[in-house]
Amino acid sequence: MSARTPFIAGNWKMNTTASSAVELARAVADGVAGRPRPKVAVCPPFPWLAAVADAVRGTPVALGAQDCYVKESGAFTGEVSPAMLTDAGCQYVIAGHSERRHVLGEADELINRKILAGLAGGLDVIFCIGELLEERKADQTTAVLERQLAAGLKGLDAAGLAKVVIAYEPVWAIGTGETATPDQAQAAHAFVRQWVGNAFGAPAAEALVIQYGGSVKPDNAADLLTQPDVDGALVGGASLKPDQFLAIVNAA
Ligand code: PGA
Repeated sequence: MSARTPFIAGNWKMNTTASSAVELARAVADGVAGRPRPKVAVCPPFPWLAAVADAVRGTPVALGAQDCYVKESGAFTGEVSPAMLTDAGCQYVIAGHSERRHVLGEADELINRKILAGLAGGLDVIFCIGELLEERKADQTTAVLERQLAAGLKGLDAAGLAKVVIAYEPVWAIGTGETATPDQAQAAHAFVRQWVGNAFGAPAAEALVIQYGGSVKPDNAADLLTQPDVDGALVGGASLKPDQFLAIVNAA
């Protein structure tokens, strides 16, 4: 048992309405009331951040955003700055999610700038990494993770890394109903921790929270979360249903 506090975050993606978002946030907050462990966060779409911030204020539920831009303000139509997110009540921002990498075309270099900007803006960062199915089949998983880690964490020191959570999300497991086996997840997480140990030192690696993401559901959460290097989960689909999300929180 590590000393790391488990962390479950819900990534709502491009789902919910103004009213259903607040309802969902309230249900999560009610479900975790009075419980300090695990850490819990919800990441609603941008337009509902302020309303969800109101709904979770004074509860153990933290607020996160799904993305941010790399500048503080200015002529960047459509973009949202880290300063705006902290102002809206966010503690976290997600960077490098596979949908941003593979649907929106974000490259490692931009993701690195987003991580640095998020940290500079006072946010904690949930940094997502993970291989495609063809990369796993070609035995390139660790090479891909290594590339994403090295590029994404470039320019960070140990103090910066202390504000980063890494989410290992094999792309083939996201939204597909197919989950990595506990052994596959553990192997990838152990690799990430070892890499971080080499780059940032053993204490940083020991303290690093590594979430697993990819079709985490109530019925597979416990098996994944009992792996020694799996410290939490980044939950997509199941985070939209309070009973399912709370069952995953309970498994942690
Ligand atoms: P999923 O999404 O739980 O729906 O697979 C996870 C994620 O993309 O963070």
